[in-house]
Amino acid sequence: MSARDRCHPRMVTPIPDPTTTTAWRTLEALAAGGEHSDLGALFSADPRRVDRFSVEAVDLRVDFSKQLVSPEVRAALIALAEECGLADRFARALSGQRINTTEDRAALHTALRRPRDDSVLVDGTDVMPAVHATLDHMKAFSEAVRSGIWEGSTGRAISTVVNIGIGGSDLGPAMATQALWAFARPDIDVRFISNVDPADLVTELAGADAASTLFIVASKTFSTIETMMNATSARQWLFDELGDAADVSRHFVALSTNAAAVTAFGIDPANMFEFWDWVGGRYSLCSAIGLSLMIAIGDENFSQMLSGFRAMDRHVAESPLHSNAPFLAALVGIWNRNFLGMSTLAVLPYSEPLRRFTAYLQQLDMESNGKSVRIDGSPVTAETAPIVWGEPGTNGQHAFFQLLHQGSTVVPADLIGFLEANDDRGDQHRQLFANMVAQAEALAFGRSAEEVAKTDSDPDRVPHRTFGGNRPTTTTVATKLTPSVLGQLIAFYEHKVFAQGAIWGINSFDQWGVELGKELAMAVVDDLDSESFDAASHDASTSALIELYRTT
Ligand code: F6P
Repeated sequence: MSARDRCHPRMVTPIPDPTTTTAWRTLEALAAGGEHSDLGALFSADPRRVDRFSVEAVDLRVDFSKQLVSPEVRAALIALAEECGLADRFARALSGQRINTTEDRAALHTALRRPRDDSVLVDGTDVMPAVHATLDHMKAFSEAVRSGIWEGSTGRAISTVVNIGIGGSDLGPAMATQALWAFARPDIDVRFISNVDPADLVTELAGADAASTLFIVASKTFSTIETMMNATSARQWLFDELGDAADVSRHFVALSTNAAAVTAFGIDPANMFEFWDWVGGRYSLCSAIGLSLMIAIGDENFSQMLSGFRAMDRHVAESPLHSNAPFLAALVGIWNRNFLGMSTLAVLPYSEPLRRFTAYLQQLDMESNGKSVRIDGSPVTAETAPIVWGEPGTNGQHAFFQLLHQGSTVVPADLIGFLEANDDRGDQHRQLFANMVAQAEALAFGRSAEEVAKTDSDPDRVPHRTFGGNRPTTTTVATKLTPSVLGQLIAFYEHKVFAQGAIWGINSFDQWGVELGKELAMAVVDDLDSESFDAASHDASTSALIELYRTT
């Protein structure tokens, strides 16, 4: 079979339509029945609800008990996963089959964290030797930078590392470098430039000493416009700062699958860290894309993170559905999205180091599952990815939590917290944890008008101070935010997103939805100063905006 044939929708193995399953009909009936909708009643009916609805997954304790899920709903959700062949889809992904049909690629990010002596075949070739060769290359290079052996062109050791990338080539390492700050070398400043807005480059380079700055150009394709423009400007900055002493090969390395473009940019191919087309951008933190993180935290901590990913992969592969935390999270999300009509998901880490975690998950979830056609090209039969948003607690409490508690839209939320801080001051961490627990309690159980009336003598104010409750949350707790726990958390969400995509019958590994805007931007950028601009080539609104720029 040729690659073309494999890509053709008609050749795709039929994926069950979830809405035609028996389980779907059962779930519709349960949703209409409404027995799930009173958390107070669910807790009263079962004193062991917390135990029954909590799952231990490696070092994470995931408490689903405050979701609007009865035992009957959970059983039907598990039946849905079975009818949709989730286990089989997962096995196909792990074994390197080309499940990304529109790009004719495997989605094998799980191979990036497997041990050296494992074997994973893609088209008959074992990819594990190459995976570990790259990890070895990263280790040697990061040690050279951290030890000062790697010198810039004037002989200075590196003290500033700047990752230039966007999307999956930025969000993962940027998020993880912040998350693991407590494990990072304080004398190496790792920064991230992603936006084509020159303000990003200008502000991130402010105060940097070119002689001791290393740029990591991270781009799978090495053609992404934002990254290439920022890399070109950074190279110019190096020339401006160091003059004749500037040697690009001592200050630039690349993370890419495109060796020709890397070499053309002036980067020594020996300093290109390779990855492969079967690593999706948003799934690439464990690949060479993690180099900036490895320089920050060192190879040992990076390995710990990989072992956390691996442990969660194993949990998913080995746990039956009723105790499989990421798959249960996926099913709860499907219940909220498809049966209770909740279209967003707030992710609220009670952890300042996880302040970019929600942004990271936005790409992971919304770029993976924000789709309207099924794998065979037919329209989806159910709503797909929720709109993922959020900010860390407790900041969010003083901004948008009003709506979470009393707004007319119910927003399910994932709360993530840790029992211990990496560096506590006074009893601040205790306060942080208490706030997370209290918010989940308030969202679930609210405060009735009768209760409010007991403490407020103004009857006109009572409705304003009443909380309806029954706002669903999942609370995930680990002891401490270590590299391994971060790996577990990320893998947890990767597998959750996978399971939802598998049940909806969509391809979670392509991202055609980003293409049209990129293509039109190329035309608009020419029109901004072209002498032959033809206003009729756009709609009236677009042309007016272009004219505005041209006449300024
Ligand atoms: O925005 C689309 C996208 O292709 C993402 O999927 C990807 O993570 C990002 O652009 C960056 O791509 P690259 O690593 O090729 O520069």
